[in-house]
Amino acid sequence: MPHQVLIEVCQGPECDKCGGPKLLAELTMLGIAAQAGHCQGLCHEAPMARIGKRAIADATVDKIAIRLEQQSA
Ligand code: FES
Repeated sequence: MPHQVLIEVCQGPECDKCGGPKLLAELTMLGIAAQAGHCQGLCHEAPMARIGKRAIADATVDKIAIRLEQQSA
């Protein structure tokens, strides 16, 4: 069974304003399992996402997909 990486998309106040909910919805629509996360204290780089322990600033679907590819390589 492949290891499932936890993807969190911050839904804190700043990320909420900067597209966090839309990013989470897009990932879900693409079948990428992600969940809502709390503020990471990196609000100036919103929207923030986290794959495991690694934070992704100004997160987009493309950035997350690239990071997932790199991790599985
Ligand atoms: S609100 Fe998202 S990192 Fe703070």
